[in-house]
Amino acid sequence: MCAFFVSNIDLTTFLVFTVVFLFVLCVISTPRSDIPGPFALPFFGNLYVLARIGNRRYRETLRLQKQYGDIFRLYIGKQMMVTICGYENIHDAFVKHAAVLSNRPEGLFKSQTKYGNLEPGIILSNGEVWRKNRRFTIQTMRDFGMGKKSLEVVIAEEAKLLCADIAAFNGKPIENIKDLLSVSVSNTVHSVVFGYRCEHDDQEFLAVTKSIETLFTVPSFLYRALPIFVQRLIGTAEGEREKALEDVMNYVQKRIAEHEQTFDKNNLRDLVDRFLSTIPPEEDTKKKFLHMYQVVLEMFAAGTDTTATTLAWMILYILENPDVQEKCYQEIKKVVGLNRCILYSDRNNLPYLEATMLELQRCANIASSFMHYSTEDVLIGGYVIPKNTMVSAFLPSVHLDPERFPEPMKIRPERFLDEKSGKVVNRDMLMPFSIGPRICPGETLAKTEMFTIFGNLVQKFKLCKVSPDDVLSFEGLTGSITYPEPYRLRAEARN
Ligand code: HEM
Repeated sequence: MCAFFVSNIDLTTFLVFTVVFLFVLCVISTPRSDIPGPFALPFFGNLYVLARIGNRRYRETLRLQKQYGDIFRLYIGKQMMVTICGYENIHDAFVKHAAVLSNRPEGLFKSQTKYGNLEPGIILSNGEVWRKNRRFTIQTMRDFGMGKKSLEVVIAEEAKLLCADIAAFNGKPIENIKDLLSVSVSNTVHSVVFGYRCEHDDQEFLAVTKSIETLFTVPSFLYRALPIFVQRLIGTAEGEREKALEDVMNYVQKRIAEHEQTFDKNNLRDLVDRFLSTIPPEEDTKKKFLHMYQVVLEMFAAGTDTTATTLAWMILYILENPDVQEKCYQEIKKVVGLNRCILYSDRNNLPYLEATMLELQRCANIASSFMHYSTEDVLIGGYVIPKNTMVSAFLPSVHLDPERFPEPMKIRPERFLDEKSGKVVNRDMLMPFSIGPRICPGETLAKTEMFTIFGNLVQKFKLCKVSPDDVLSFEGLTGSITYPEPYRLRAEARN
């Protein structure tokens, strides 16, 4: 066909036509917007920027903010993605304009598994499905202990076992603190979801915890907005992500099957039982199960690595700030003593420790918001963000704002203490759990876990660098969240 066409026109005309055609195609496909941002190529958008950023997304996004201002855009293929920085802009977008900016992009997150296409849970759903799932999960978490004494005790038990794991190192270097933390944190979610905890050497449980970590560390979902040929060209580790997802699904499937065998509608033990109790016989059971997988998966995925990673950052920061660690220890020694576990309910009597937790969360900065999606044109920070744009709040821009937190990279728990009363203040200057209707529903659980685990570690150990010459990195590596680079430490028993 092409040969016939070419043979019937002269070659020069054909070449001119081809060049003009390609030029017009490029012009049409080059994305443009009034919102500032780097030049976007046809088809690829700002892929070259993403490639340059790699896993240094946290540092590089701060740089893009400096270069383009508090509202800037990148193109993933031809899909525009706007990043919002600064407290006022983020508040304006996610609280004042919540009605327009609380959706998630559709389609990007579809996961095909051997059990079928997962039904939407909380993180990835919109509208009535999202509202229903969110309400169900928060209510179930409350019913099974969140914010209550019972869960506080489960978490304290986990903290005790973690301390035993760490004591077993006998002051020798610990290279895998993040893995130890993940097991403890994941176990708490396991208790809420499946009704029981696992031994710390349970191989099946350890493997699923690793798979959850993989879901968060492989390159982000964002690449799915690219044309398929570009995804193939650059390699997006989709295979690795799918394998990890299947492993987690297999684990969840096994636990659900166990629950079905022992289910008693008069004795609901956990989230899975609560779900089973809501499946009426006439309902499409397969669909309902795929829906349950997704909710359970999200609880695990969103609840494990986020909390464990924040704790890993906190420990990294106090290795570099031994004076802060010592002050926490002295307060604990004076107020709680050294003979009993620290509980979350102790926090009101431990203001320095509580302020330290806030300060360390400010610097940990593991997450931006998950991707939101505009359902209408909306004016934020002087720019019109068009309908159907992916929008993300860059939360570190709030926490590292020198106007709010002078010398932001310095660890100063005093920022969160009232000089006169010594009470904790300024909590609302932080937003590590985001804000607005999509705010993290696991906030209370995460705070309880972090306070209990961190407090008990500081009570029982002096955490220090293996060698005073060890140079610690605070730059972080970003997959779906930002991790500290691997580091080692020593834990010297306090008594
Ligand atoms: C330190 C620990 C944690 C941090 C820093 C954190 C942070 C976040 C952030 C920034 C979001 C995105 C909100 C948005 O898109 O605007 C989020 C959403 C979410 N988080 Fe967390 N999270 C943590 C722990 C947890 C825990 C323990 C759970 C549950 C067990 C959990 C479950 C969720 C869920 C289900 C969502 C989606 C909410 C929705 O789309 O409506 N998170 N979290």
